This record gives sequence, structure tokens and C-alpha cells, in this order.
Amino acid sequence: MCGIVGYVGPRSSMDVLVAGLARLEYRGYDSAGVAVVSENDGLVSQKRAGKLAVLRDDVDAHPLASGGTGIAHTRWATHGAPTDANAHPHLADGGKLALIHNGIIENFHELREELIASGEQFLSETDSEVAAILLAHAFRETGDLTTAMQQVVKRLEGAFTLLVVHADKPGVVVGARRNSPLVIGVGEGENFLGSDVAAFVAFTHKALSLGQDQIVTLTESAIDVITFDGEEVHPPEFTVDWDASAADKGGWSSFMAKEISEEPEAVANTIRGRLSSEGQVVIPELEALDVGRIDRVIFIACGTAAYAAMLGAYAMEKWSGIPVTVELSHEFRYREPVVGPGTLVVSVSQSGETMDTLMAVRFANDAGAQTLAICNTQGATIPRESTATVYTHAGPEVAVASTKAFLSQAVAVYLLGLYLGQHRKVVSAEVAASIAKDLHALPEQIQEMVETGPRIKELAGWMADTRSVLYLGRHVGYPVALEGALKLKELAYIHAEGFAAGELKHGPIALIEPGQIVFVIVPSPRDPSSLHSKVVSNIQEIRARGARVIAIAEKGDAAVLPYADEVITIPPASPFMEPLLAVVPLHIFGMELAGAKGLDIDQPRNLAKSVTVE
Ligand code: F6R
Repeated sequence: MCGIVGYVGPRSSMDVLVAGLARLEYRGYDSAGVAVVSENDGLVSQKRAGKLAVLRDDVDAHPLASGGTGIAHTRWATHGAPTDANAHPHLADGGKLALIHNGIIENFHELREELIASGEQFLSETDSEVAAILLAHAFRETGDLTTAMQQVVKRLEGAFTLLVVHADKPGVVVGARRNSPLVIGVGEGENFLGSDVAAFVAFTHKALSLGQDQIVTLTESAIDVITFDGEEVHPPEFTVDWDASAADKGGWSSFMAKEISEEPEAVANTIRGRLSSEGQVVIPELEALDVGRIDRVIFIACGTAAYAAMLGAYAMEKWSGIPVTVELSHEFRYREPVVGPGTLVVSVSQSGETMDTLMAVRFANDAGAQTLAICNTQGATIPRESTATVYTHAGPEVAVASTKAFLSQAVAVYLLGLYLGQHRKVVSAEVAASIAKDLHALPEQIQEMVETGPRIKELAGWMADTRSVLYLGRHVGYPVALEGALKLKELAYIHAEGFAAGELKHGPIALIEPGQIVFVIVPSPRDPSSLHSKVVSNIQEIRARGARVIAIAEKGDAAVLPYADEVITIPPASPFMEPLLAVVPLHIFGMELAGAKGLDIDQPRNLAKSVTVE
């Protein structure tokens, strides 16, 4: 959740650290801080509650140091309110040691009591400060930061990435990780650390991903990695395949607006090189799986990623003939499901770091299942720990609310479904070719939906005072309804619910009163399953009770027109492609309504992009 940056090298470390924090601010934005160590000035630090701009103004007005080695942090509060005192870094050893932390130290209470009993004083309410004080003790005993870190991590329970610097060790940053991300950026005569590659991609594209329970000692010229037990490790190297400019706003009013505009390209990138026009799916990464053995697929994911999985699962089950279910990661793990080598457990995660999903993947691995990660972020933990990984290649997603990732995740699941169907020989060449045609046509059709922006903005404008919005969909329209509602909740702080339209009469219809706004995702009138007429009946039922209906329906759908107050049209598409078009105006609507209410679109309250706590 928190953003972490570390730097050793000849540049102005303040510039590198603040630039890194700016790119990581989506991870946490309730306070920020830096600490820099140099031969001349010793350790200097500053931390401030509020967004990064508050800290930046402060260090611009009162510069800390120009050179040196540094660490920096943006916080997403867990223990203690977002105040200056609770912001990181936490200092110890008379202000000579500075520590930043991401994660939760679960046994902090007993450690804190122990340290207080030994005469230590705490300046914050955080769990992190115990690690700073323990490190100061261990450093005093050993005189070595790496050995001190090795001793301290053995006392900590929970999830943590820790970075530490000490005034007596200029030119050294020591980091450690357990259940929380840390990536190393490899430069020429300089090295970097970050919670993800965004922290340093402006300076280097060469990266190493630190494994579970490992410690890194970073200097200008060396990167030494050991396990918590002291064994030497050589982490795998990878190249970051996107440019720093991809994580800039590039003239857009918000990252979210930019990322919605990138939805067509994200989908094209997920498909690129993986699907011939005849419908042959080629994904070499899947060769690590024992596909012949798979008799069941379980998707695990959270939030938007779970809705993308739900959507993809409809197609996968149909095309592959394999039973497919979707579960929220945090529910899956705790119900102790029966899984084995015939079960393919597919995690879907943009960040690849979501703790709930990571823990579910570990559970599946331990239970002997095959695990596949559908992920957008290179160097992330979930791919590292899975049997195989399919990257979505959607490019960096910075806005906290997920948009282009949703589309690329669903499309990746479609490709996987088609791959399994072909492997099991249950998809005919003709059907595969027709699916391929539909998928290749998608980016252009999604672009058409992106262009509904001005119309949706108008709609959002007159709804800024709305207190509740409902979303209805059936079959593949159902996850779209859930996704539309989630976007509205998180961005516009408006009560919103997504329902399966067939469920309406089983309770939710009691919510319908005059003026209630209801979005309805209408399947094509050409849909062979006859769902269209059922959904049109649902629209009539809610209209009869005074609801204002905004239908998302196929161009020329005459049956909807008489009953809807507004119709947003989608181009004709096959049933599995329609939801990927219908969701785009809902993404835009959430963003525009937040804009109409004057809210922060990219950084909604209480949320963080990468949810690395359970
Ligand atoms: C909603 C949203 C979240 C994420 C969820 C999973 O807009 O962004 O619901 O989808 O936290 O995140 P990842 O995909 O990183 O595992």
C-alpha cells in the first residue's frame, strides 16, 4: 500500500526520491517523508501529513541536502492517523538511523511493550517505529546494518518491506521483504529500490525482483542479496517494457481519463501476437502448465479484477467445456477448498501484489494445484510464485480506480478460455475463427465507446446530487453492473449497487421509487438466448415504479427506446464482446460524476492502488 523508494548514487538523491514518490503516490497519499545520509551532513529528514505536494513544498523552501543516499515513503495509514508524527521515516539511535516500512507488523504491540519496559520512548502510534528501534539496538551491537536487519526480521511477524539508512554508513541502503513488494533498479554506478518499477523507470529499465524473506544491501557499485538466514541469492533480472512517459499524465486532466483513453490500446496489447486471424491461440507462457490434467478452473481475485474474471469465466466455460468458478481471494483461502493437480487456480491481479490474492495463490500452491497468474506488473510477487504467468501488457495503471486493466484482464481470460478449448479440441476451427474476428475488432469498437465521453459527461453533470444509483445486468451484463457500481462508490462516494436483473423481483425491487436512477445493460436483440426480452421486461417493471432508466443497448434496439429515459448505444457485437463495450461508458460515468462533485478522481479517499495488507 505505501510507496517506498531508495537511492544510492551520484545524483541529487532528493530529486530521485521525490520523482520516485511522485510516481508511487497512487500507492498511498496521506503523508510522505524522506531521509538522506551524506558524509558532510549526517542524516537529515523531513516528513509531512497530507499529499506529496506538502512535503515537496517544504523541502523546496528548506532544502535538506543535495547529495547522499536516501530513502523516501508515501503512506497509507494502518496504525495511527495520518499525522506528521506517524509519517515515515521513523528515526532512532538519536536521529542517526531512519527507517521506512510498508505492511503490517502483527506482533508490534508486544515488541512495543518490551521496548517501553527497557526504557525506550515512542514518538508515533505506528507499528513501524518498533522496527526502527529494534534496528538501532541491533546496529549498536553489530556495527553492521545488514546483520542488524537479519536479526530484526526474525523478530517480526506479519508483512513488511523495510528500508533503513544510518548516518554512520553513508552510501548504503539495506532493505528486507516479507509478503510485501520490493524491486531493485540496476543502474550504472547507481542503484535503486522501489515498491514497484515505477519508482525508478525514469532512470533505468533493468530490474531485479527481490524474493520472499530476502535482504538486499545496496551501494553505488554492488547489490548483495541474502536470505533471512544469510544464504547468498542471485535474483532474476528483467527489463521493464514500458517507458517513464507511459506513467505520466501526458496532458490529460487525470490519470483515469488517460487510462480510459488507453482502453482500446490495452486490449490490442493483450491480444497482440497471441491470436492468429484463424483463431489459433499462441501463448508460450502456458507451456509451463500441465493442461491435459486440468479438470476444473477456479479464478481468484478481488474487486474489479474479480469482475473481469467473472466476465471471462462465462466465455471460458463455454469455449473450453471445463467447469469454471470465480471466488474472491479472501473467501477462497479461508474456506479451505479441496483442490489438487487437476485444478487450475487462476489469479487475476493488475498489481500482482494484492495480499488477499497472494495468500490465496500460496494456499493453492501448497494444496498442490497448478497456479496461473494473469497480471499487468512485471517483477510483482504473484507471478513469481505462480506456475505460469500471462501478462496483460496494458501498460502502467496509475489511477486508483482500475479501468483499462479490467478490459485487458477479461480479454486475457477469453484468450485462455479459447486456448483451453483448442487444447481439449472442443472448439471448432470455424468457431475459433469467428471469436478471433470478434476479438480483433474489439479495439476499434472500444474506441467508439471512449468517444461517448462528452455525452456521458453531460449525463453526469445533471446527476451530481444523486444519492443512489442501481445497475442491472444479466449473464455477461451482470459483472458489468457490478463493475459500474463499484466505480461509482469508489470515485463519487455515492451509494451504488449492481444486481443480476433476474434477482430484482427477489428483493431489490423494493428499492425502486420515483426518481431512482437505474443503469440497465441490455443484451443485443439478436442474442439467441432470448435474454433481451427478459431484460426489457425488467426495464418495464422498474419504469412502472417511477425509476429513471439509462439503458446501454445495441444501436437500433427499438424495443428499449419507449421505456428508457436515456439510451447509450453500443455497436453491434457478439454476446461475449458486448460487455467489453458496455463497461466503457460506466467507467467514464464514475469518473465524470466524481469530477462534477469536485472530487479527486485519481486518488479517492481511503483507497490505495496496491492493497498489500489483508
Ligand atoms: C477498483 C479497483 C480494485 C482492484 C482490486 C484488485 O477500481 O481498482 O477493486 O481491482 O483491489 O487489485 P489488483 O488487480 O491489483 O489485484
